[in-house]
Amino acid sequence: MSTPTKYDFGMIGLGVMGRSLLLNMGDHGVKGAGFDKDASKGQSLEQESTNGNLKGFSDIKEFVASLNTPRAIMMLVPAGKIVDDVIEELLPLIDKGDLIIDGGNTFYTDTNRRFDYLNGKGIHFFGMGVSGGEEGARRGPSMMPGGDKDAYNVVKPIFEAIAAKVDGEPCVAYCGTGSAGNFVKMVHNGIEYGVMQLLAETYEIMKKGLGLDNAAIEKIFTEWNEGRLKSFLVEVTRDIFRYKAPGADHLLLDDIKDEARSKGTGKWTSQVAMDLQAPIPTVDSSVAMRDLSKYKDLRVKAEGIYGGVEGKLDVDTAAFIKSLEEAFYFNLIISYAQGIHMLTRASVEFNYGLNLAEISKIWRGGCIIRSLFLQNIYEAFSGNPELEHLLLDNGVATEVKGAVGGARTVVSAITAAGIAAPCYTSALSYFDAFRSGRMPSNLIQAQRDYFGAHTYELIGKEGTFHTQWIPKN
Ligand code: 6PG
Repeated sequence: MSTPTKYDFGMIGLGVMGRSLLLNMGDHGVKGAGFDKDASKGQSLEQESTNGNLKGFSDIKEFVASLNTPRAIMMLVPAGKIVDDVIEELLPLIDKGDLIIDGGNTFYTDTNRRFDYLNGKGIHFFGMGVSGGEEGARRGPSMMPGGDKDAYNVVKPIFEAIAAKVDGEPCVAYCGTGSAGNFVKMVHNGIEYGVMQLLAETYEIMKKGLGLDNAAIEKIFTEWNEGRLKSFLVEVTRDIFRYKAPGADHLLLDDIKDEARSKGTGKWTSQVAMDLQAPIPTVDSSVAMRDLSKYKDLRVKAEGIYGGVEGKLDVDTAAFIKSLEEAFYFNLIISYAQGIHMLTRASVEFNYGLNLAEISKIWRGGCIIRSLFLQNIYEAFSGNPELEHLLLDNGVATEVKGAVGGARTVVSAITAAGIAAPCYTSALSYFDAFRSGRMPSNLIQAQRDYFGAHTYELIGKEGTFHTQWIPKN
């Protein structure tokens, strides 16, 4: 009787991401088992697998029994309670020393909780952010593992084989202790939200401000993607400006409702940034704009009262497009700078030991926020691992100084014309406040002391002080 084949890696959840990642592993010689309650998913996995390396299961016991020990099992299921349910289902079937990996967009505190729980049972566990959508997972994603380093090292060769490569280097690296992997992925998504909103605002400026048609907008995004703005999100946007449904005479984009949805990772990034006191106004504004977009009825009513925005700019179009390119570059730098500053703060607060050079390196390929500029970020942090803020790097400063003029030209013009572009305006204000050796925050302190006796500190004098600002009645 022949011994049944044993598999080296198990994947739970054969949805788009799980299936694609496992197929990618199969292509790289990994013998993988996939589990999904829906048996048809396992069958289609086997059909798609070109070299017979993969096997689908719909019975969890058979799936677990098919794995070589110590077992390596990855979950790619929706974040939240389902992850806990899967863990509970697995526990009676697996052994001490086995490894579970959570590859979903899990909130970092859940990862900490699950790590402690599983650690107590002798099971290795780590969370790993996976970015790149279906195509990335299939052809090469960017992956952000954290937590149990020894456990990661066991499966590292598999992930390095399937990751996207930039200059021959895999876009996967151990990010840091505890929940670092999920945290880094959350901030990645926050930056993703910001850049997406910046592109939507750019569309508004080109359309309403400059009166450009879709073909002209497509041309600009095409040019941008051939220069320093080259990035996956600009490429995606360019392609959207090319797409007509079969037989249609206009872009599909024009038929899509102007109400944006979200799964919540951008909101988490903003919420956690506020807890960490790490300002990321670009992400905050992008979350707010997705939320505002959902109030379609109210917006239509308000347009009836106040009139809509015509927004036509009285500018030389060619010169303004040049400023817009500078402004977008500036905004992109500020978005990354804010997100990375948040990572710096989190690394201190949660003892993650984040290596920002490695993180920017693995974001250069495979993930949604990949861009040419990530090379500059990588160089900044590999040159100075202790860099406190991206905007304090000399190379980055040169880029910012060269682009801020365009940002100012654009923000002035669109503000006067009434075009809503909160990510454009907040990025510029963030920069202007950040480069202010003295902010007007002394007034906030005085106000707090005035009405709440909260005290203030004085320049050049130790201690805290309180003043009776007006005579008591
Ligand atoms: C990625 C993406 C992905 C995210 C989607 C949808 O890195 O591949 O960040 O993880 O889930 O982009 O996010 P929203 O539904 O919140 O827009």
